[in-house]
Amino acid sequence: MSEQENNSMLPLVSVLGLMVAFAVFIGVLAAVIGGFARHDRPLDEREMAALKERIAPIGQVRTSDQPPMETANAGEPQAAVAPRSGTEVVQQACAACHAAGVLGAPKIGAKGDWEPRLAQGFDTLLKHSITGIRAMPPKGGNPGLSEDELKAALTEMLKQSSLAP
Ligand code: HEC
Repeated sequence: MSEQENNSMLPLVSVLGLMVAFAVFIGVLAAVIGGFARHDRPLDEREMAALKERIAPIGQVRTSDQPPMETANAGEPQAAVAPRSGTEVVQQACAACHAAGVLGAPKIGAKGDWEPRLAQGFDTLLKHSITGIRAMPPKGGNPGLSEDELKAALTEMLKQSSLAP
C-alpha cells in the first residue's frame, strides 16, 4: 500500500469511527431514558376502568332474544314491518295513474269508471291488481306491496268512488 492510499483512507476511517461512537451514545441514552420512564406498577382500579373504556369496541352484538333494556324508539311502530294502510298505498302507488285516469285507468272518485269493473267481482279486480292488466302494471309497479296492502288500496279506491267491495 502506498503512502498516498493510506492517507486517502484516513477521512473514511474517522467518519466510520464517529458513526460507531454516535450509535453507542444513542444506545446508552435510550437505555437511560427508558430506565427513567419505566413503570412496572400495576394499574389501580380507576386506571383499569379508564383503560377498558378506551379500548372498548364501538358496537356490540346482542345474542339474546330478550329485548334490550332501553331502545331509542321503544314502543314506536316499526315502519319496515307494519303494513301500510289502504290510503297510504293508494297515495304512494296507485294515485299516480288512478287520480287523473292516466292511460285510461279508472279514476278514483268516478263511480261510473269503477262500476263495470267491479261487476267482474272484487276478487278479479284484486287479481288484476296483483298480476296487472293491459296498461296496468303488476302491483302498480311496486313489487314490494303485499296482497293485503293491495286489497286495502283497492278497497280504499272503491270506497272513495262510493262503491263497496
Ligand atoms: C302506471 C299507471 C298505474 C298505476 C301506478 C296503477 N294502475 Fe291500476 N290501472 C291502470 C290502467 C291504465 C288501468 C286500466 C287497464 C285496462 O283495463 O286496460 C288500471 C286498472 C286497474 C284496475 C281494474 C282492473 C280490471 O280488471 O278492470 C284495478 C283494480 C287497478 N288498476 C288497481 C290498481 C292498484 C290497487 C294500484 C296501486 C297499487 C294501481 N292500480 C296502480 C294504471 C295504473
